[in-house]
Amino acid sequence: MALLKIVHYPEPVLLSVGKPVENFDENLKKLVDDMFETMYSAKGVGLAAPQVAVSNRLFVMDCSGGQDESEKIALINPEIIHVEGEQYGDEGCLSFPGLYQKVQRSLRAVVRAQDVDGNEFELDVEDLAARCVLHETDHCDGIVFLDRMTTLKRQLAKQKIKRLQKTGKWE
Ligand code: NI
Repeated sequence: MALLKIVHYPEPVLLSVGKPVENFDENLKKLVDDMFETMYSAKGVGLAAPQVAVSNRLFVMDCSGGQDESEKIALINPEIIHVEGEQYGDEGCLSFPGLYQKVQRSLRAVVRAQDVDGNEFELDVEDLAARCVLHETDHCDGIVFLDRMTTLKRQLAKQKIKRLQKTGKWE
């Protein structure tokens, strides 16, 4: 396995719609393994392919932070098929290092996806896992959490990004 480089906003790949995954082959399995390793290493709970400069529709997640194998899930070609309720809370993103901002999301999400072998499955999640699924599926559509903020919060976030970029920690 290998650690992949996580790209930071405003890399164009983060703002592009990912292509559907068509080949469920060894290359896909390796990419997924590397994405898990990269996500755990960066202490994130989700990582989408565009964040490692691969413009395809897939992401990995583990809201247990490696504590519970059943929460380690790869979702290929995810599609949100149902949402319900709402939650409002802090959100971060590995492509926005050091930036946390309140974002409104649905409380519950049902997502249909394929596993690394191409088998279709559905995942019905709430709370943090729903926030994660919605955030990462957005990445597959070229949408970043900045786009989900209110206008005021987005302006504040952009100012903070400019300050962080000046520190050199954001490239
Ligand atoms: Ni993100």
